[in-house]
Amino acid sequence: MQITETSDKKPKLKSLDTLFIQTYGCAMNVYDSSRMSDLMQEAYGLRIVDTPADADVILMNTCSIRENAENKVYSELGRYKKIKDKRPDLIIGVGGCVGQQEGKRIQERAPFVDIVFGPQTYHRLPDMVKEIRRDRVNLTEIDMPEIEKFDHLPKPKVEGLTGYVTIMEGCDKFCTFCIVPYTRGAEISRPPEDILAECRQLIDAGAKDISLLGQNVNAYHCEDTDGNEVGFAELLHLVGELEGMQRLRFSTSHPMEMTTELCEAFAEIPSLMPYLHLPVQSGSDEILKAMHRGHQREDYFKAIDELRLHTPDIALSSDFIVGFPGETEEDFELTLDLVRKVGYDSAFSFKYSPRPGTPAAKAEDDVPEAIKDERLQRLLALLREQSRERMEQQVGKTTDVLVEGKGKNEGDLTGRTPDFRIVHFKGNPRLIGQTLSIQITEAYNMSLRGELIIED
Ligand code: SAH
Ligand code: SF4
Ligand code: F3S
Repeated sequence: MQITETSDKKPKLKSLDTLFIQTYGCAMNVYDSSRMSDLMQEAYGLRIVDTPADADVILMNTCSIRENAENKVYSELGRYKKIKDKRPDLIIGVGGCVGQQEGKRIQERAPFVDIVFGPQTYHRLPDMVKEIRRDRVNLTEIDMPEIEKFDHLPKPKVEGLTGYVTIMEGCDKFCTFCIVPYTRGAEISRPPEDILAECRQLIDAGAKDISLLGQNVNAYHCEDTDGNEVGFAELLHLVGELEGMQRLRFSTSHPMEMTTELCEAFAEIPSLMPYLHLPVQSGSDEILKAMHRGHQREDYFKAIDELRLHTPDIALSSDFIVGFPGETEEDFELTLDLVRKVGYDSAFSFKYSPRPGTPAAKAEDDVPEAIKDERLQRLLALLREQSRERMEQQVGKTTDVLVEGKGKNEGDLTGRTPDFRIVHFKGNPRLIGQTLSIQITEAYNMSLRGELIIED
């Protein structure tokens, strides 16, 4: 699509040349921002700039997962307003999950915002920009259309060695604390043929580490063109066996849908990397029930056992929430106990914060802030200790490292192991892009150091 502007308006509008995108939130937002940039480059030939002051179009791709998301957006918008005061032709758009959640309220509070859009309407950005330049109106586009936005997006571009492909989007789980089902909408899976074609393009363009994205990737199910139902484990086989697929990952999966086929897939598909982010949130059955997670702690242990039966070295990570309404000291200790029993390589931990319109927000946020802080610190300390121990266990091992770029120190290169650890080592920059055997010599909290094994 190339948009030609037939503006008979006076004074003549300045041509659009530059775009600045500010991205918050999850990997899917990062993916969406790159698609927005592809769209705007294709339609208007816009060039990406690093500073908002240099941009003709500023887009914010927002996240509303935790506390204060809305306020952060408004304070950032205050800074953009100053730019717009000097250059009234500047176009400001607010997209993403806060856009979806707040809708028209954004332009009520910040009337200088030209466009508000949601995660399901960004494919209309070029048309929205055209419309506001023609009619000088404010637009809000946050309906959740039935039509597939993916059919309206240009082919993805690859930058660097990593690529991302959205395979499903949205969430039907309605965990009581979470805003995602309201901002991303219902679960929709993309046809397997489209996913395979997008992966093919990424591989052909040089991607060596591809991640499949979705709010709950293991809820994936879609018919192929022959009418056969394809589930997530089957999709992994199809994608993982594409010629040239070196490293395949996915995120995020839900404990409720950990099938045997999925647990086995890590051992069966050589390109599927031994790393799994499987958020559990809490180790207490009472809290899991109140969160509406749909499983108990025993189910989680069973899934982990089954994974480790087939892939003993799989690296595990999780998300945790402390201070959910009603969480007692005993509940919290059950979370610590679960962490000790599972043994994580990494994790993300958050203090509960009520989100507007979610069922949990109706209950009293009754765990005092000081207790939330204290629990978070205790959990973080345990997780840090575990992750450090597991890092130490890597010393002496030889592992395949995909070299991603130069390190911070002179002469260093940096890359990733199959289980997603960062490794620094000395090497020639021409090795970037290759997968090399590295012997691990030292462990730190967040990374490893190693030596290149020279084969003779
Ligand atoms: N779909 C993923 C999670 C997406 S949100 C899953 O089901 O696991 C990412 C993480 O943010 C969640 O796992 C949760 O730990 C955290 N989170 C979501 N809502 C939250 C809230 N209201 N307060 C604190 N943390 C929250
Ligand atoms: Fe949110 Fe739960 Fe859906 Fe994850 S599964 S996105 S936590 S509602
Ligand atoms: Fe945030 Fe929306 Fe992603 S709320 S975490 S940007 S799905």
